[in-house]
Amino acid sequence: MRMHLLGDDGPLVSELALGTMVFGEGGDRGTPPEEAGRLIGRYFDAGGNHIDTANVYADGRSEEIVGAALKGRRDEVALATKVRFRTGEHPDDEGLSAVQIRRSVDASLARLAMDHIDVLYFHAWDPWVPLQESIGAVAELIDAGKVGYLGVSNFKAWQVMKGLSLADAFGGPRFVAAQYQYSLVVRDIEREFTDLCQSEGVGIVPWSPLGGGFLSGKYDPGTRPTSGRIATQPENDEEAWERRSTERNWRIIDVATAIAEEIGATVPQVALAWLLNRPAVSSVILGVRTIDQLDDNLASLALDLDEATVGRLESVSSLEESYPYRFIEAYASR
Ligand SMILES: NC(=O)c1ccc[n+]([C@@H]2O[C@H](COP(=O)([O-])OP(=O)(O)OC[C@H]3O[C@@H](n4cnc5c(N)ncnc54)[C@H](OP(=O)(O)O)[C@@H]3O)[C@@H](O)[C@H]2O)c1
Repeated sequence: MRMHLLGDDGPLVSELALGTMVFGEGGDRGTPPEEAGRLIGRYFDAGGNHIDTANVYADGRSEEIVGAALKGRRDEVALATKVRFRTGEHPDDEGLSAVQIRRSVDASLARLAMDHIDVLYFHAWDPWVPLQESIGAVAELIDAGKVGYLGVSNFKAWQVMKGLSLADAFGGPRFVAAQYQYSLVVRDIEREFTDLCQSEGVGIVPWSPLGGGFLSGKYDPGTRPTSGRIATQPENDEEAWERRSTERNWRIIDVATAIAEEIGATVPQVALAWLLNRPAVSSVILGVRTIDQLDDNLASLALDLDEATVGRLESVSSLEESYPYRFIEAYASR
């Protein structure tokens, strides 16, 4: 597996990361602890070193499972976790205040049974706390050796830029990585974030590279799934299937399926191989529930899509023109 620097200044990470969002979840979308341990072992054997979790995944179970699986192998991994979303009943059990960041990092370290986190992400913007306070709290945690680097996720572009500017002005940690949803079916970040991250030396770390499994090749337009991730998205996402099952997305799947058949690959492999070579992408986070899915997705590393094939994927999945981007392209790109 190729290794990349995470952004300009971050740690060395493998081009495929292992996501652990469903580790420890019950039901038919979750991965039980023993299988999760095997997944981590297989991922290491394939040359991976970048594992992504969060304080809220499976109510903290994901961090516990990851910590147990990494016992004795801590130095081999770049471990990322996150802070922002609610973890308890106390008013401070949510957000990016200095108090919450310190409490959350200590709680994550206890669950992980580790003494430091390599990359701490702000999981989303907190409208109630000045960003300078949040960045200052991470600066102290870096000084204390509890955190290595700072990452950002699900911020608007101006919010990312504000964080970078504050860090530059006050000598705080810059974001080394930006974690965003990015796949053939969700390319919105190309409007702002690709340029932003390239110009600021921030590594893009795509999540949901298969659109939550939609690009797995196992779905068809006529059948609403009754099991697995898309059928059982948690809270506030009753429309998970309807949002994905659009004419545009089925055209993308048709093209990806035709390409997969032509080159003897699978749809997830084609989707991942495309994403691995997008500008500014440092490390793509795999979401896998089983060993078979991991093996399937790891094989994307062996695919070398030629220019014509990439062009077919690009044109079927391209974003609709919108303002001001069309104006800039037409009149101000010189
Ligand atoms: N920063 C953030 O806000 C954020 C948000 C979401 C995720 N993440 C991170 O990104 C990681 C990946 O996201 P994701 O889980 O949504 O990724 P994804 O790859 O888009 O979806 C993963 C799901 O697709 C299905 N799948 C994967 N490979 C398959 C294959 N080869 N064949 C058939 N089905 C397959 C599995 O679900 P089923 O088998 O149940 O269908 C699996 O759980 C997460 O684990 C987490 O670490 C971060």
